[in-house]
Amino acid sequence: MDVTLGIIGGSGLYELPGLQGEWETIESPWGEPSDQVLRGTLDGTRMVFLPRHGRGHGLDPTGINYRANIDVMKRAGVTDLVSLSACGSLREDLPPGMFVIVDQFIDRTFARPKSFFGNGCVAHVSMAHPVSRDLGDRVEAAAKVVGVPVRRGGTYLAMEGPQFSSLAESQLYRAWGADVIGMTNMPEAKLAREAEIAYATVAMVTDFDSWHPEHGEVDIMSIIATMTQNADAARNLVATLAAATPPTREPCSTGSDMALETAIITTPEA
Ligand code: ADE
Repeated sequence: MDVTLGIIGGSGLYELPGLQGEWETIESPWGEPSDQVLRGTLDGTRMVFLPRHGRGHGLDPTGINYRANIDVMKRAGVTDLVSLSACGSLREDLPPGMFVIVDQFIDRTFARPKSFFGNGCVAHVSMAHPVSRDLGDRVEAAAKVVGVPVRRGGTYLAMEGPQFSSLAESQLYRAWGADVIGMTNMPEAKLAREAEIAYATVAMVTDFDSWHPEHGEVDIMSIIATMTQNADAARNLVATLAAATPPTREPCSTGSDMALETAIITTPEA
């Protein structure tokens, strides 16, 4: 299949210098996406970029229309979607500056529409392996070329926010075995699976959340300061990934491209 690489940029990543293209409005029946998309090519790779919170960071995690965002990426032809976001660390050995290529999620969000289905067409996609292994391999290789500290695999706890966790919550999530915490990867990953888009996500550690006895409370100013330091590495990672992206690929070995083949339960004539 022909590959188009999509990038969803989180806090601190509102543009992608190097991506030659135009900002385009793509309409979605699911409502307003976070912004226009920047569609073009980087090193010969077809690419589409969307800033998750909008270019002026006007949307909080609950206010993001995740369905419209994934829908416009699908309409723009995206087959391989890499999500970049700031996160807190729940482990001593994942310090700020570390990039974690997440492979599992615990979804604790509760105030966001999470499916394209329902209302006459019911589908239950598998989320046992929620990210694309093949795309994760390519992201990991790119991170190693760039030289950023990277960890392959980790469990991302998605919280509703917008407030950060209490000490008790942070300790609970550590006891559950979560590695990093953020507010935006869910329902994004679920919707990408329903849209049959291969999805990988890079969680960029900005802080130790609330649990660490030797670090102060999390605050957004220090998160943005760390993200600004990480942003160059993130942009290099994307450029390296784009250069290494093949124009065509085999079906994803994790099944991302055919998630609906065994998921729709409603009979066609219903
Ligand atoms: N994003 C960055 N740091 C975070 C934290 N500690 N909790 C939730 N989301 C975050």
